[in-house]
Amino acid sequence: MKTLSTLGVALLAGCHVASAKEIVNPAKNEKYTSGEVHEALMAAKHVGDRPTINFRQLTPNGIKATWAAREAQGLMDSTIYASRDSAADAVPCVGGLAEVVPGDANNTFKCNNIDFYDFKSHADLGSAMGGGSSSWGWTSEDGREFVAVAQRDGAALAEINADGKLIYLGRLPQYPTANASLWREIRGYKNFLVIGSEAYYHGIQIFDMSKLLDVDPASPVTFNNEEDLTGYFNGLPVGRTHNVVINEEKQYAVAVGAQPRTHSCASGLIFIDLTDPSAPFSPGCAPGDGYVHDAQCLVYRGPDEQFDGRDICYGYNEDTLTIFDVTDKNTTNIISRTSYDGASYTHQGWVTDTQWQEFLVLDDEYDEYDKAGEGASGYPVTYFWDIRSLAAPKLTGLYRHPTKGIDHNQFVIDGYAYQSNYGSGLRIVDISSLPEDPTGANVSEAGYFDIYPEDDEAEGGGSVDFVGTWSHYPFFKSGHILVNTIERGAFVVKRTDI
Ligand SMILES: *[C@@H]1O[C@H](CO)[C@@H](O)[C@H](O)[C@H]1NC(C)=O
Ligand SMILES: *[C@@H]1O[C@H](CO)[C@@H](O)[C@H](O)[C@H]1NC(C)=O
Ligand SMILES: *[C@@H]1O[C@H](CO)[C@@H](O)[C@H](O)[C@H]1NC(C)=O
Ligand SMILES: *[C@@H]1O[C@H](CO)[C@@H](O)[C@H](O)[C@H]1NC(C)=O
Repeated sequence: MKTLSTLGVALLAGCHVASAKEIVNPAKNEKYTSGEVHEALMAAKHVGDRPTINFRQLTPNGIKATWAAREAQGLMDSTIYASRDSAADAVPCVGGLAEVVPGDANNTFKCNNIDFYDFKSHADLGSAMGGGSSSWGWTSEDGREFVAVAQRDGAALAEINADGKLIYLGRLPQYPTANASLWREIRGYKNFLVIGSEAYYHGIQIFDMSKLLDVDPASPVTFNNEEDLTGYFNGLPVGRTHNVVINEEKQYAVAVGAQPRTHSCASGLIFIDLTDPSAPFSPGCAPGDGYVHDAQCLVYRGPDEQFDGRDICYGYNEDTLTIFDVTDKNTTNIISRTSYDGASYTHQGWVTDTQWQEFLVLDDEYDEYDKAGEGASGYPVTYFWDIRSLAAPKLTGLYRHPTKGIDHNQFVIDGYAYQSNYGSGLRIVDISSLPEDPTGANVSEAGYFDIYPEDDEAEGGGSVDFVGTWSHYPFFKSGHILVNTIERGAFVVKRTDI
């Protein structure tokens, strides 16, 4: 059996060439524009908006109460996952395994080219509720590296020291008008954290990370929303947003997926001026393609000369890659709307080079789960797009991961895509060959660290489910990478080769 499934993986993993094609300017898909897909997702995610979470499954294949069941089994209680001793050494990845606790299957992690440095449970990162989601980082002027770890009841704040140890410094609780929520997203703007949540009436917190510089780890600080925020943006329709993205160069944030869809901003791009972080305000919104789930907003630098220096957002809009010219902040200028065969939930993506925008990588969160198109096999698919013409993006190829699962948030640094792929953990894909070969035929995995051993024995090496890694922060100069997991807590890992 083992041999057969291994063979299957090898065959599938070798197949890169996409039969999927882009669909230019697709008709509006009623299922998405009406909010049917999104509302089903929201209903499953936010059952009764109880302070304790709920579960998340999309309805097309029937609601499956995985998370509720896991909660009931106590698996979301992070205290069952022991933190690493603060004096213990790093554990190298040897022979495909990082044996953090030798002989303990739940503390032995499959890996390649990534070593283990530290782990702290959500409980030891100050959370009463656990439940990890987003994360971000900040580097001080003198090179110290700090992180924020989103949890259901707020954001844990910590430093990663030179040895890769995670040192808890305190926390910023969720905004007090909101309930706890697993859906909390954090991004960075200069020395500030910008934090939004899907919880009603949360709004957007703006917190100055330099407040951590003098905190004594022996006395972690619980910061206060009344006194310690630099700014607070209260201009979202009902205070909830799926994510906040940042264009630091142009000094603004964008709330994406801010409910409700019936609002005049239609859950599209809601711009927030951060020129003065203590007085954020919205100069307008771009509602014209409806709900935007995630986006990357950049000053355009690339071969499409007519957009040189324009302010561009690459929108991941459930069923399309939609590229906006957002130079004018109170109107919608769509450059292109493009779908693709098998699109199920166009989720997030990143350009391969922010300084020369020719290609981007895109993840579809539900193609594996819904068994759609290229994702039908359950092996996660990363889609490659040629964006050398912003008006006519082309789907040029794909990479199919060797382990079953779901691909999620990704960032690209120097030709490597760093991905948080739920139950298959942190995955690093070498995409440096895309400019020479956009089909992705020479794309390969450069390393991985699978923080969720529980599903490793499943057929295909993993489960197609929403478990394990939600996010990671790979931008530190030291190479330390923070990985935030839904159940356990936060890991620090580092590539062996750099
Ligand atoms: C918080 O949760 C409670 C219990 O479900 C609910 O009654 C209340 O409306 C929620 N509050 C907000 C602000 O969402
Ligand atoms: C590993 O964790 C799972 C729960 O995720 C538990 O059911 C199992 O007993 C644990 N195994 C060991 C060896 O501790
Ligand atoms: C955006 O434009 C609308 C009319 O199209 C106007 O009513 C509104 O005041 C504008 N918002 C801002 C912040 O300028
Ligand atoms: C693929 O990439 C490797 C380096 O990553 C290079 O040595 C090799 O020549 C490339 N092969 C092809 C067919 O482009």
